[in-house]
Amino acid sequence: MIKEKLSLLQPISMGSRKLRNRIAMAPMTRSFADDRTGVVGQDVVEYYRKRAADGVGLIITEGIIISPRAKGTTGVPGLFTREQTESWKNVTDAVHREGGTIVAQIWHVGRLTHHEIAGGLPPQAPSASAFRIARGRSCSSFWKTIRYSGRDVDC
Ligand SMILES: Cc1cc2nc3c(=O)[nH]c(=O)nc-3n(C[C@H](O)[C@H](O)[C@H](O)COP(=O)(O)O)c2cc1C
Repeated sequence: MIKEKLSLLQPISMGSRKLRNRIAMAPMTRSFADDRTGVVGQDVVEYYRKRAADGVGLIITEGIIISPRAKGTTGVPGLFTREQTESWKNVTDAVHREGGTIVAQIWHVGRLTHHEIAGGLPPQAPSASAFRIARGRSCSSFWKTIRYSGRDVDC
């Protein structure tokens, strides 16, 4: 009865996709991927499958990097190697089996990376401007892992 009245629970079209309801899951970085390969495992498959089983209409994945230099923090998944793509197919298959819809959020952090995060590669950004942080402040989540407190850092 309630289900019939609530527009939130009614199906809707999004481009060519037909969503079973209007509930969407926001993209949330989980850092569960293999840090070296950017491949997602069975834990990530299960994480997204469960959300689809709960009835979410549209799942937007965590940010997925599109190249090694796109990486801004540890444990983020990628979608630029065959191994990574195959691992995501396990996720999408599991979500589809639960009747869900999932789209990938692709991600490039621009200058907000560091060679210690990006496998030794330098940052890649649209401009050459450095991102400066104030003395003793952290500039993004990965600085919790690699600490540069107490001095200025170009990141
Ligand atoms: C743990 C966590 C991880 C997040 N990761 C991403 C992300 O990968 N991509 C993104 O666009 N937003 C990310 N966000 C932002 C959320 O998608 C959302 O926009 C934000 O939480 C505001 O929504 P709220 O007001 O409902 O909390 C993240 C938020 C949280 C709490």
